[in-house]
Amino acid sequence: MIPRRKVLDLLQVISSASCKCPAHAHPGTSYGMSDILDHRSHASSVPDAKPSKEYAFEMACSTIRYGPGVTREIGMDLVNMKAKNVCVMTDSNIAKLPPLKTALDSLTREGVKFEVYDKVRVEPTEASLQEATKFAKAGSYDAFVAVGGGSVMDTCKAANLYYSDPEAEFLDYVNQPIGKGKPVTCTLKPFIAVPTTSGTGSETTGVSIFDYEPLKAKTGIANRAIRPTLGVVDPLHTLSMPERVCSYSGFDVLCHALESYTAIPFTERSPCPSNPILRPAYQGQNPISDVWARYALQIMRKYFERAVYRPDDVEARSSMHLASTMAGVGFGNAGVHLCHGMSYPISGNVRSFQPKGYNDDHPIIPHGLSVVMSSPAVFSFTGPACPERHLEAAELLGKDVSNAKKADAGLILADTVRGYMNIMKVENGLSALGYTKDDIPNLVRGTLPQHRITKLAPREQSEEDLSNLFEKSLTVF
Ligand SMILES: NC(=O)c1ccc[n+]([C@@H]2O[C@H](COP(=O)([O-])OP(=O)(O)OC[C@H]3O[C@@H](n4cnc5c(N)ncnc54)[C@H](O)[C@@H]3O)[C@@H](O)[C@H]2O)c1
Ligand SMILES: [Fe+2]
Repeated sequence: MIPRRKVLDLLQVISSASCKCPAHAHPGTSYGMSDILDHRSHASSVPDAKPSKEYAFEMACSTIRYGPGVTREIGMDLVNMKAKNVCVMTDSNIAKLPPLKTALDSLTREGVKFEVYDKVRVEPTEASLQEATKFAKAGSYDAFVAVGGGSVMDTCKAANLYYSDPEAEFLDYVNQPIGKGKPVTCTLKPFIAVPTTSGTGSETTGVSIFDYEPLKAKTGIANRAIRPTLGVVDPLHTLSMPERVCSYSGFDVLCHALESYTAIPFTERSPCPSNPILRPAYQGQNPISDVWARYALQIMRKYFERAVYRPDDVEARSSMHLASTMAGVGFGNAGVHLCHGMSYPISGNVRSFQPKGYNDDHPIIPHGLSVVMSSPAVFSFTGPACPERHLEAAELLGKDVSNAKKADAGLILADTVRGYMNIMKVENGLSALGYTKDDIPNLVRGTLPQHRITKLAPREQSEEDLSNLFEKSLTVF
């Protein structure tokens, strides 16, 4: 038998070899294959010992099909899935636009029966998810299709779940501590998700996010079982996206990539789950999620601005659509942290902000906007915990870091993101969204229950830290 030391030496040589592809040879990776093996061998040196910290990670993702015009195939997919009656969900804007028409034409052509629910709320709430579930339960469906942004896809995930487990109470599957966070053991119906924004990556994830109105903050259902069976990523749908939708949803992609890349390593999570079904969807950064995050950042550097300001730039809009899916695969398994955790009360406490291009009858702070607002403050704060990763992310976004000091890593990434916010004409901080210093205790209160994600931040935060981060986010420029 080859001695273990030799195996580790060999792995060391392989991992420091000169390959420069995005999956290898990156400084700042806070673990390597040898660490993983080392960790595992400690765990198994005592027979049947249960490791106290995590030693494994799992990559779950929907099947993804990407291509211009590929929505025309979904009728055939549903026939292949033997679906006879399909529940199609969308929102009232998309209902009037080509993405829904293309999808329905495909179903009609293949002789697949369907009914359309077009009342999805943009930025869903627990009440709007229950309305959509009620519609589904009133019919008899053997498959679901969502055509829209994250709001539509997330609503359809919840409707499919509660349709498939009709006895469940709404809070049964909602994340703890707000809900019971029960594992999903029922079998869901096949579900095709067709994204029309370049943002959430929800077509790849087992996550459904909604505003929980009693708390005035978002929470969600996070379980691999609710992820779409198939994500149909058709870049032509993004050509109708208004400028602000493209900008804000683009910042969601940016933060998915940056937060998953700077999250704690999966080996730092504890306790180790006693059964694989209990392993959370959001596990911390891992060598595979890193690949997706890096690629997404590289694409954003090249195409984000073009996609926002040139709606007919098919190359830019298509590339951003792909970046959103890529970042989705990464964060859907690694997780996000403080920008997202702090965004949930920012959007939940909205007063009168009504962004251009959203055509909604209620005030909203779009998800991507609520997320990016705190990002300069957050990355300045998390920089010292993993400076190499912050510097590398800044470099991938176009910053020259050749003479940068590690001590400045957080500030450098913060400045880089601020530069993108400036170019994309993002509002100047929380004060521009209607918040004052007096709102901060409330915003902190809404962040505290988000520990499912805030504990993935590479640096622990006290209530005072959160308060400071909100205060620093009142103005950004
Ligand atoms: N499930 C996840 O993994 C996940 C991740 C991030 C965010 N989210 C959630 O997703 C929601 C945000 O989703 P979103 O940013 O995709 O936007 P959205 O679905 O809320 O849509 C935003 C607006 O853009 C319009 N729109 C969408 N696509 C369009 C198109 N092609 N042409 C014209 N108009 C279009 C919609 O009608 C709506 O008015 C939030 O609730 C957020 O919390 C979920
Ligand atoms: Fe997000």
